[in-house]
Amino acid sequence: MSTLVTGIGELATNDESLGPGPLGLLTDAALVVDGGAVAWVGPASAAPPADRCEDVGGRAVLPGFVDSHTHLVFGGDRAAEFEARMSGQPYDGGGIAATVAATRDAGDDALRERLRGLVAELRAQGSTTVEIKSGYGLSVADEERTLRLAREVTTETTFLGAHVVPPEYAGRVDEYVALVTGPMLAACAPHARWVDVFCEPASPHAFDGDASRAVLEAGRAAGLDVRVHGNQLGPGPGVRLAVELGAASVDHCTHLTATDVDALAAGDTVATLLPGVEFSTRQPYPDARRLLDAGVTVALATDCNPGTCFSSSLPLCIALAVREMGMTPAEAVRAATAGAAAALRRTDIGHLAVGARADLAVLDAPSYRHLAYRPGVPLARALELPA
Ligand code: NIG
Ligand code: FE
Repeated sequence: MSTLVTGIGELATNDESLGPGPLGLLTDAALVVDGGAVAWVGPASAAPPADRCEDVGGRAVLPGFVDSHTHLVFGGDRAAEFEARMSGQPYDGGGIAATVAATRDAGDDALRERLRGLVAELRAQGSTTVEIKSGYGLSVADEERTLRLAREVTTETTFLGAHVVPPEYAGRVDEYVALVTGPMLAACAPHARWVDVFCEPASPHAFDGDASRAVLEAGRAAGLDVRVHGNQLGPGPGVRLAVELGAASVDHCTHLTATDVDALAAGDTVATLLPGVEFSTRQPYPDARRLLDAGVTVALATDCNPGTCFSSSLPLCIALAVREMGMTPAEAVRAATAGAAAALRRTDIGHLAVGARADLAVLDAPSYRHLAYRPGVPLARALELPA
């Protein structure tokens, strides 16, 4: 059944052939959705007929947000750790072990219920695609089952067995890397599209450049595509390694040298910024302006996880990116849609040209600008249309 979405006060297409500016903006627009894809887009006055009509009453419509970095399969919470941080305790990744213990203890049904609740929370705030990492199991069986659960809700699943070294391997990093690149990868690869690593020599719990390279190369040899957690807590090799290996994205990018920025500008790895993390760990924000001015493709994602950012709100990230990171409202919206689609190497989402997936977000507001202009107000939701 085709649907004519009409009454669109402002439509962000992210397609500069359809309208002006980086968002390809149209006003008084309409859009026909057929078979889950955009079949027509243009001025309301020229709209073709369709089987049914959905009038959005002058609201702004944009491509659904693409949350290209989350960790939604976990047990427990770390509110006490958050409170300690707000009293001055720094974040170093040590708290991940508490979530690993709680996740191992949780049954599939409990993990699934939490996961589905969080995915619903994301959709209710306008996100229509979500990437989900493992990384709180850290045994062959627990990594495999957390990825299997993630696969129930998205095709964008990421094997992060190299999140931290689990307590039973303390002091035996090489042995743990052998497990990750051997039996754990073999069990997990069938459920994953991506391989990732927490490359962070500044954390005593995470992985250095050599171990990270071993994990990423093994993942790639097993057919997975590469993405990296890098340069979150301090300068390090993550960004350069990601670019060298042709990673789709390197995420965090909080501490960058000029060499890192040059490498990103010369390669085709997206820099994914996660401002909810700096908000929740009380760290300085990454410098998005510097990256954009260097010509780097920037994405915004939530990193929703129980440790560094327990928020599922891309609108919050957009507001933070505008207020704290030097992005314009249009750049931030583009980063949370087209930029994040590029971070997942997807061409069917993040824009609204004919043929794209009809993943739409609608705002209880006349313009995308309100996402940053009205922080904390629940304006965005995924537009649900009949199949
Ligand atoms: O992306 N930095 C590493 N991993 C997560 C945090 C995980 C946690 O603290 O539980 C992140 O921020
Ligand atoms: Fe993360």
